[in-house]
Amino acid sequence: MPTARELAQEAFEFGKTLDLKGIGYGRDTQDPDKWYDNPTAYYKFLAGFAAKSGVRDILEIGTWYGGSTRCLARGQSAADATAPTKIVTIDQEQRDTSVFREYPTITAIEGNSLDPRTMRAALGLFDYRPVDLLYVDAFIAYAASIAFIGIYSTLFRPSFMILDDIKYNESMTEMWSDLCRVYGERALDLDEVDPAIRPKCGFGLIDLRGWYDSPGRAG
Ligand SMILES: C[S@@+](CC[C@H](N)C(=O)[O-])C[C@H]1O[C@@H](n2cnc3c(N)ncnc32)[C@H](O)[C@@H]1O
Repeated sequence: MPTARELAQEAFEFGKTLDLKGIGYGRDTQDPDKWYDNPTAYYKFLAGFAAKSGVRDILEIGTWYGGSTRCLARGQSAADATAPTKIVTIDQEQRDTSVFREYPTITAIEGNSLDPRTMRAALGLFDYRPVDLLYVDAFIAYAASIAFIGIYSTLFRPSFMILDDIKYNESMTEMWSDLCRVYGERALDLDEVDPAIRPKCGFGLIDLRGWYDSPGRAG
C-alpha cells in the first residue's frame, strides 16, 4: 500500500497528464467580474488523486460552480477500475448544476451542511456506508471548518480527507496545526509534496485508512 506522500506525488504527476480543459473554478470568490474557465493546479491534483487512490465514494462540502467536483469525476473515470463510483456534493447555494449533466455519478445536494436534513440526505445517498474521500472546501475559519470535518467524518468515516485553504488565514493555520497534533503522521501538508499543488492557500491530506476499522451495525 503506498504511503499518503507517495500517493499524493503520483496523483499530482498523473493529474497533470489528464485532459481537464474547460473545467474551471467559475466566478472568482472576491471579484465577480473575473471568471475562470480552465483548471488550476489543485484541480489537477484532485483529479489525479481520484484516479490513483482508487476512491469510489466521494463526499464534497462546497460545490461552488462544480469545478472540483467534475475534476474528481474525471479522475475516477480515468482510473482502470470497473467498480461503480459516486460523488455527492453539498452547497447551501446551487449555482449551475447543469454543468453536471454529463456526469451521471455526481449528485448535488442544496442545503446548509450544518443542517441535519442535509446530513441525512447525504447519508441516504450513500446508504449509510463509509465514504472513501471527504473533501472539505466551504468556509475559511476554524469553527466552521472543524464543524464540517467533525460532523462529516463522524457520519461518513472517510478513508481520506482533503482540506482546502489550510494556510489561508490565521484561523485556518491554527486549525491545521491542531489537526496535525491530533492526527500526527496521518496529516500531510501537501506543500511538502509539491508547493505547486495549492500555492499560498495550502492543501492538507489526512490519511484515515484503518482509523475507523470497526464493522458498522447491519440494518
Ligand atoms: C470555495 S467555494 C468551493 C469551491 C469548489 N470546491 C471548487 O474548488 O471549485 C465554497 C462553497 O462553500 C459553500 N458553503 C459555505 N458554507 C456552507 C455551508 N454551511 N453549507 C453548505 N455550503 C457552504 C459556499 O456557498 C461556496 O459555494
